[in-house]
Amino acid sequence: MNNVLVTGGAGFIGSNFVRHLLAARPGVRIVTYDLLTYAGSLENLRDLSDPARHVFVHGDICDRGAVDRVVAEHGVDTVVHFAAESHVDRSIVAPGEFVRTNVTGTFTLLEAARAAWAGRADVRFHHVSTDEVYGALAADAAPVTEHAAYAPRSPYAASKAASDHLVRAYATTYGLPVTISSCSNNYGPYQFPEKLVPLMIVHGALGKPLPVYGDGGQIRDWLHVDDHCAAILAIVERGRAGETYHVGGGNQPTNLEVVERLCALLDARYPGAAHAPHRSLIKHVADRPGHDRRYDLDFTKLQTELGWRPRHALADGLAATVAWYAGSGAWLAAVRDSDDYRRWIALNYDGRAVEVT
Ligand code: NAD
Ligand code: DAU
Repeated sequence: MNNVLVTGGAGFIGSNFVRHLLAARPGVRIVTYDLLTYAGSLENLRDLSDPARHVFVHGDICDRGAVDRVVAEHGVDTVVHFAAESHVDRSIVAPGEFVRTNVTGTFTLLEAARAAWAGRADVRFHHVSTDEVYGALAADAAPVTEHAAYAPRSPYAASKAASDHLVRAYATTYGLPVTISSCSNNYGPYQFPEKLVPLMIVHGALGKPLPVYGDGGQIRDWLHVDDHCAAILAIVERGRAGETYHVGGGNQPTNLEVVERLCALLDARYPGAAHAPHRSLIKHVADRPGHDRRYDLDFTKLQTELGWRPRHALADGLAATVAWYAGSGAWLAAVRDSDDYRRWIALNYDGRAVEVT
């Protein structure tokens, strides 16, 4: 691994991964390739200032010519593919963009890699995927292993499942050296505040309602983004080509418990706030259509084969995340000033007051 193309490197996990890789592997050069959609921002990469080690290229993963050029110009030998439309709620409102980016975009990258690498074995295409491809788990079902059948239920999950199938097809049909990681819910710095954790932190600090979908009893597995980045690096370097590895945190509170924990952290940080205690801001609102009740990944394979362990306890990770958002006013102001963010919040939250309990 010398020249790494990180697609979606200006987004949440991608930007954390770029920073992680630069620090962990001093010999590696990175090209971040990103379209800078609403979810991507150069603000997420602002502190990276060594052009000999990291360059940014603005581009679309669906643009084959542009992808070919970046792969050839930078002698790319490793692709770590994060670029995607990533928010389930947006996939319900506008699924077309998810098919375009997640399916056609992944296909375009695979074609570019197949053409550029033509049979080479000293290369790697790593695809970043999600636990959502397996669909909702029954309350008493065992965690899913890498052998479980796919059953995606949202347009987002279906588009990620389709991209996973394409990646595997390129491994079996063309011998492309691929790996896939399927991960649970990430949290940490630089996450766009449309997702549960940062949305609750930002709304809570502003004294706005904290919208919990339905009864809030849904279960996600939470993983600090640093742990995800370390897992991806281990898989890219030491994972077996053709294999899928699950990445999880082993933390499964209900959504309501996550929000309550965040409220307690906000109480501690802003004890004099007019709206404290922050839990008084919690509002149960109409549920997400087709809302998956529970995800739970078995990540034994990653632990036993590659020795990876999640290092961040959820309590510490959430506290650090609240502190990061509290100390990142300029970053947050840039996000909150964007037209897209204003539109999304106005459309989905400021008018969403359908209380069910
Ligand atoms: P994000 O929405 O924060 O970032 C996505 C990035 O992709 C943005 O920088 C955006 O500009 C870029 N992008 C979008 N369309 C593009 C295109 N056509 N061409 C080039 N760039 C484009 O997403 P994230 O939360 O960082 O997720 C990254 C990856 O990890 C995604 O593939 C997602 O499915 C997967 N994943 C996310 C989580 C999570 O909890 N966030 C968990 C498991 C897997
Ligand atoms: O499981 C991995 C997936 O996690 C990733 O593949 C996705 O890219 C990522 O967005 C995330 O999907 P979720 O739908 O689980 O994340 P989100 O933060 O949108 O929601 C987490 C849970 O919280 C979910 O059950 C819905 C609920 N929720 C979310 C929001 C934004 C609320 O109750 N209220 C909210 O306002």
